[in-house]
This record gives sequence, structure tokens and C-alpha cells, in this order.
Amino acid sequence: MAQDKKLIIANWKMNLGVHESSLYLHKLAEKVKIHRDVQLVLAPTMLALQTLSLQVNHRQFKLAAQNFYWRDHGAFTGEVSATQLRGIVSYALVGHSERRHVFHETDKDTRAKVQAAIRNGIRPVLCVGETASERAAGETKDIIHDQLLGGLANITSDELDQVIIAYEPVWAIGTGNNALPNDVTEAIVSIRSQIKHLYGAKASNEIQVLYGGSVTADSAADYLTLAEVDGLLVGGASLDAQSFATIVEKAYNSTKKGA
Ligand code: 13P
Repeated sequence: MAQDKKLIIANWKMNLGVHESSLYLHKLAEKVKIHRDVQLVLAPTMLALQTLSLQVNHRQFKLAAQNFYWRDHGAFTGEVSATQLRGIVSYALVGHSERRHVFHETDKDTRAKVQAAIRNGIRPVLCVGETASERAAGETKDIIHDQLLGGLANITSDELDQVIIAYEPVWAIGTGNNALPNDVTEAIVSIRSQIKHLYGAKASNEIQVLYGGSVTADSAADYLTLAEVDGLLVGGASLDAQSFATIVEKAYNSTKKGA
């Protein structure tokens, strides 16, 4: 069972520069209000995090890193660590399909990042999901299970409280081919059942699980009203402040207390 509190994350990926991100935030801040049961999170380019963190009303928005390196410091040219992000972001995406498939990150990398985020007081959003061919081969549950097991190995029950899971089927990301609500429910039930197996019923009830993959202002409510879904991870539709504000409005309406 999901919680009443919803988490809505905007993943801008490699879009919007520092100035554009700042203008966007200014526009969005006027369109959305602070709601007790909806947490809004923005994941801009790494370059804009510092600027936005100074600009943002932290009661209204939290920030997330799209990526980071799992070591805390050292000779790792070009990398940014969770230690360096500490105090700037509250969340960090880990194991996003683009990291797994474009940058060939493994479950071992993912696991190291989950641990690094937690070690640095940042909540990891562990992304899992199958490709189209894995889905066609009927392997969805096995893939999700492997990615969960891989990402969460060595994570204690106390640490799991910090973890958020996002179900993002690879075939649904950036394709306009969003998953059917029933398929999302089935995948998330399977995620919770594995969490139950690993950490017990309480953890499985309490862990926040999001859906991501071609969510739009039109389809957002189809997911937000599902009992298993605790929020959304939005890519393309979050690049326009009005479209993202409409998604946020749907999230307000989906909580028990309404808007
Ligand atoms: P789209 O919403 O563009 O499909 O992207 C989803 C995603 O990858 C969010 O992390």
C-alpha cells in the first residue's frame, strides 16, 4: 500500500542551462503552492544546482542530483561526489536507465552510489525497469528483482528508510509510449513484494515507489490515483513550467486532503 504523501520529481536531464533553469524556477514557483502532502523535487543540470539552491524556497522545492560519483573525494577528474553535493541536494537519482544503458553503469556501480548517497545524507532514488526486449521475453519481474537486489545489497533496514524506488520501464522513457496503469501496478506490487521479502512488511508498506516514463499532464492522474504509486519521475513534460505545474496540480488532487 502506498502512502498519502506524493513525491513529484522533475528530471530535466541534459536540458536547460543555468540561466534557463533559474528562469524556469522563478516561473514555476509562482504557479505551485506549498502542499503538506506533496513534495516537489527538481533535478536540473549539475551546473545549476548551486544557483537554484540559493534561489529556491526550500519549503516549496527540494533539489536532486541527476548523477554523482560514488567515491567521496580524490583523483577522479571531472567527477562530482555526494560529499560535494551534501547540503545542496536532498535527493539523487541512481541507476537511471540512461546511466545504465548509455553509460554502462552496472548494479555494482548503482549499489556503491546508493551507499554513497546515504553516507552523505542524500536520499537515493533507485531507478529500475526493463527494456522492450526483456519485456517481450517475459523477464520484467526478474530484471526488476535483479536491479533491486543489486542496488540494495548491504543496505540495512534503517538505511532503507532513506531509499526511494522509481519504476521506469526503459521502453517508456522518452518514447511517448507510457506504461498502462495495470502494468505499473503489477510491477510495483512485485517491487513491494521483494522489499517485503528482504526487509519485512512494514518496510514494504512504507517505501515510496514512483512511476516514470512518458508521463504527461494528461496521463499523470492515471498513475497518481493508483494505490501503489507514491509519485512520479517526469522527464520531457517537466521541461515546460506550465505542463509540470499541471502535473503538480494533479498530485494535489490525488492526496486525501486535496488541493
Ligand atoms: P520522460 O518523461 O521524458 O519519458 O523521461 C522519464 C525519465 O527518464 C525521468 O527520469
